[in-house]
Amino acid sequence: MRERLRHPFWQGALVLGVAYALFRWGIPYLPPLLGISSAPVPRSVMLQYMLTVLVGILVWVSDNEERWRRFKEPMRALLVQPERRVARGAMLVVLPLLVAFVTYDSLRPKISAPAGLRSVHPANPTSITVRGEAMILEGLENPLRTAGREEEAVELGFDLYYQNCMPCHGDYLDGQGHFAHGFNPLPLPLRGGGTIAQLTESYVFWRIAKGGPGLPREGQPWNSAMPAWDEILTPEEIWAVTLFLYEQAGLSPRTWEEH
Ligand code: HEC
Repeated sequence: MRERLRHPFWQGALVLGVAYALFRWGIPYLPPLLGISSAPVPRSVMLQYMLTVLVGILVWVSDNEERWRRFKEPMRALLVQPERRVARGAMLVVLPLLVAFVTYDSLRPKISAPAGLRSVHPANPTSITVRGEAMILEGLENPLRTAGREEEAVELGFDLYYQNCMPCHGDYLDGQGHFAHGFNPLPLPLRGGGTIAQLTESYVFWRIAKGGPGLPREGQPWNSAMPAWDEILTPEEIWAVTLFLYEQAGLSPRTWEEH
C-alpha cells in the first residue's frame, strides 16, 4: 500500500478521485454545514473541473523524466506484459462494453413528468404587505392618478426606470435590455398589446413590488430574475414608475369593471 502511495500513477489516480469527490459531494454538502447555501455542480462544469485536474496531473507527472517513466509503467505493463494477459483480455471486453452502456444510457428515452407550462400572468394574491402595510389589490387605483399628480409622477418614474429597470427591460421598454439575454424567463416587454395593456395598475404594482420571489407556483418552474422592489423603492415611487410605463408605452391600464 505504502509502495503504491509513492508511485506517481497511483498518486495521480488518488488526486483525481479526491477532486471528483470534492466537486461532486463537497461543494453541495460542505458549505451548508457552515450555514452557507450551495448547489450541486452542473455536469458540464464538473467535466471542465475534472479535465483541468487531469491536465494538472499530467503536467506534474511529465515534468520529470523519471516520474514520467514510472507513471507509464503500470499502463505499459497492462498492455504488453505476457503475465497480464488475463487482465488485458478483460479490459478489452469491459472497456467497449462500458462505452456502449454509457452511449445507450444517454440516448435511451427517459420517462419524466411533462414540463409544466409557465403562466406569464398568473393570478395575483388578494392582498400584499408592503413595508408593514397591508394592501388589498382588488379595486386598488393608482393614488397618483386619482390625486391628479400624473405629470410629476411621470417625471419621477422616468428617472426611476432608467436608474433601475432599463438594463433588463430595455431603453425602448421592449424587454431587450443589455442583460436581458442572460435570463430565463426573459424580462417582459412593457409595451404593445398583450403586455401591461391587459393588466390593472394594481397588478403591475404587485409585480414590481414583489418581483420574481413573489410569483405563485404557476409562475415557475424557472426562477424569474425580476427583483422585488418594495425594499428599495417606496410605494409612491412604485406607483410613479407604473404610471410612467403606461405613459411611455402609450397604453392605458385595464380598469376595474363597474358592478
Ligand atoms: C434583473 C433584471 C430585471 C430588472 C432590473 C427589472 N426587471 Fe422587471 N422583469 C424581469 C423579468 C425576468 C421579468 C419576467 C419574469 C416575471 O414575470 O417575473 C420581469 C417582469 C416584469 C413585470 C411584469 C410584466 C407583466 O407583463 O406581467 C413588470 C411590470 C416589471 N418587470 C417591471 C419592472 C420595473 C418597473 C423595474 C424597475 C423598477 C424592473 N422591472 C426591473 C427582470 C427585471
